[in-house]
Amino acid sequence: MTTPGASRRILVGVGGGIAAYKVCSVIRHFTEAGHEVRVIPTRAALEFVGAATFEALSGHPVSTEVFEHVDEVPHVRLGQGADLVIVAPATADLMARAVTGRADDLLTASLLTATCPVMFVPAMHTEMWEHAATQANVATLRERGATVVTPASGRLTGRDTGAGRLPEPQEIALLGELLLDRADALPYDLAGMRIVISAGGTREPLDPVRYLGNRSSGKQGFALARAAAQRGAHVTVVAGSTNEAGEPAGVEVVHIEDARELADEMTTRAAGADAVIMAAAVADFRPISVNDTKIKKNDDGPAPIALTTNPDILRGLVESRESGTIPSDVVIVGFAAETGDEQGGVLDHGRAKLRRKGCDLLVVNAVGDGKAFGTEDNTGWLLSANGSETSLPFGSKTLMASRILDEVRALLPD
Ligand code: CTP
Repeated sequence: MTTPGASRRILVGVGGGIAAYKVCSVIRHFTEAGHEVRVIPTRAALEFVGAATFEALSGHPVSTEVFEHVDEVPHVRLGQGADLVIVAPATADLMARAVTGRADDLLTASLLTATCPVMFVPAMHTEMWEHAATQANVATLRERGATVVTPASGRLTGRDTGAGRLPEPQEIALLGELLLDRADALPYDLAGMRIVISAGGTREPLDPVRYLGNRSSGKQGFALARAAAQRGAHVTVVAGSTNEAGEPAGVEVVHIEDARELADEMTTRAAGADAVIMAAAVADFRPISVNDTKIKKNDDGPAPIALTTNPDILRGLVESRESGTIPSDVVIVGFAAETGDEQGGVLDHGRAKLRRKGCDLLVVNAVGDGKAFGTEDNTGWLLSANGSETSLPFGSKTLMASRILDEVRALLPD
């Protein structure tokens, strides 16, 4: 396991695709985080981005050939010395060459000497991605232990849209960090598992222009989705309001507005799930009625808004499991955002909530004073119905997601 903040050696292999320009931001992310980054472009990559850009961003010379700087035996030194290799954009041709063990340039030769985790981030046109040859190559790379990220869907070069887009640089960087953290774990330990995750906040409508909402950014739910998909799970995110610009690669995202829509989606989808994670911040109350027209203020009197209580979705899922409406072995995970008060500390409230909700795992976060909501990092505890209590060390929400999924995995059948 990585010591947070430790400098690691990251080899970025850049393939010849238009998305090569996005990889510049990935390189920058890792150098700014204090890591040592070396870049090996293919000859075709240099048709898209010049060597000077990669040299300036990484602070090291770049070469495409095995026969340059031969005295340093670069293909052995760079491959063997890396803690992580990221190949992006991984073109159809580059993956085909990696599968057949070709060593006809510095990048493919280095891939043969790398013993660390290797992540391919494909980008190509939908037809090329879906072609049987590419899919067979992806399967082979995965069988051999490499991570091949499922491409995002969206606008491709030219006018077409579809699967094959390179995920956003931030997404690639987070996936890379996850691999640095989990170098010793099986990359596909959630393969075949169906995981449904709620994320973000609900918006309870008052009238055509207003709603009751909350500050949830959706970051923790999306981080869970990203991490679970990378470990091979089939992931659906049921998302309310979030600050997330893009959708995690390879994840199905369903959008909802209010708590009752969220309840419907979660209950329906839990029936076919192996694990359900309620990371959404659900409004406990909603206006009794939604006005068709904008509510006018009442100059002297009280606010003309009466509230009623929303369903407790997490509790409802546990009850559905008890009554047999959803499978008896579905793992149910809840979150608790707590502040300490005169009745007890954050952890005391967490323990009481775990008993009240009846779920299998409860992630307890301390909130208030800028903690948890909207931040990049998080910390907390993981309480289990079997009585175990694990402290989650301070780190990115992606790393925290990875730890939570370790516990979920332990509760799922082999
Ligand atoms: N939750 C839910 N339905 C609600 C409220 C919350 O499913 N109507 C879920 C949340 O997604 C979270 C867990 O319950 O997984 C705890 O949410 P939290 O807001 O901390 O607790 P509440 O149940 O609202 O209890 P309280 O506000 O009294 O602490």
